[in-house]
Amino acid sequence: MFKALLLVSLALTVFAAPARRQSITTLSTTQIETYKPYTWYASTAYCAPSTTITWSCGSNCEANAGFEPVASGGDGAVIQYWYVGYDPNLKTVIVAHQGTDVSDIVPLLEDADIVMETLDPSLFPGVSSSIEVHSGFAATQAGSAPDVLSAVKTAISKYSTNTITVTGHSLGAAIALLDYVYLRVQLSSVTVKMIGYGLPRVGNQAFADYVDAIGGITHINNKEDPVPILPGRFLGFHHPSGEIHIQDSGAWDACPGQDNTSDLCEVGDVPNIFESKESDHDGPYDGVEMGC
Ligand SMILES: *[C@@H]1O[C@H](CO)[C@@H](O)[C@H](O)[C@H]1NC(C)=O
Repeated sequence: MFKALLLVSLALTVFAAPARRQSITTLSTTQIETYKPYTWYASTAYCAPSTTITWSCGSNCEANAGFEPVASGGDGAVIQYWYVGYDPNLKTVIVAHQGTDVSDIVPLLEDADIVMETLDPSLFPGVSSSIEVHSGFAATQAGSAPDVLSAVKTAISKYSTNTITVTGHSLGAAIALLDYVYLRVQLSSVTVKMIGYGLPRVGNQAFADYVDAIGGITHINNKEDPVPILPGRFLGFHHPSGEIHIQDSGAWDACPGQDNTSDLCEVGDVPNIFESKESDHDGPYDGVEMGC
């Protein structure tokens, strides 16, 4: 009896501490549910700024009914939509960025002429020049960066918090990952987390290692989505750690390390673009389809 209890409590300990996992662990239903508000926030970033600033965007907004918007922006063309506000239940500032259509992003990421560049020192002062990121992602992030920063500063002082969570899907996840670095560099004494969905590879090995050294990121990949395997590793792109891979069965598995090649993780499950399925990009992520 005691032994059985011990085993149960050991199992609970393993589930309760996925960040220190060394093996692939399957998330419990309760753990999966903790991502639900962020999944809706990522989806809501597809809604027009005129509706996120008043939090009147229909089911996306209703899913996080207590949210208090601070600022919204973007035009959905040159600058992806974004919004910033505060979640009183999660006690965090939320920053969310719009993604893009899978049929638009895949050809861009498959382009063998993809250019990497160092992070702009005016936005990312002090970040090593060995760190390089996709130049298109850098340009897109730069487009909203100053407005996002100023909205985050407003939210931090208005709600007396120093916790920020950035989120997004697809291109929005890539912008969110750069924002996560940017906000941490720009603001002292804040805790920044990033929870992304269908994240493409954003930067080189030095970038992935830099992100891992900070910690606090989760990127959730759905089934045979092609976007997370792009751009290819042979082009020098690498994912930071923090992957959760959704299996065909609907199980969520936390994968340790960068680009884990196990069949239970994205790289092993989707060895090349021909074995991918574009329709998996938008979800469902525990029942939520991305879009507004
Ligand atoms: C992938 O996960 C396994 C656990 O199944 C772990 O032992 C291995 O180190 C991981 N690979 C990488 C590249 O981190």
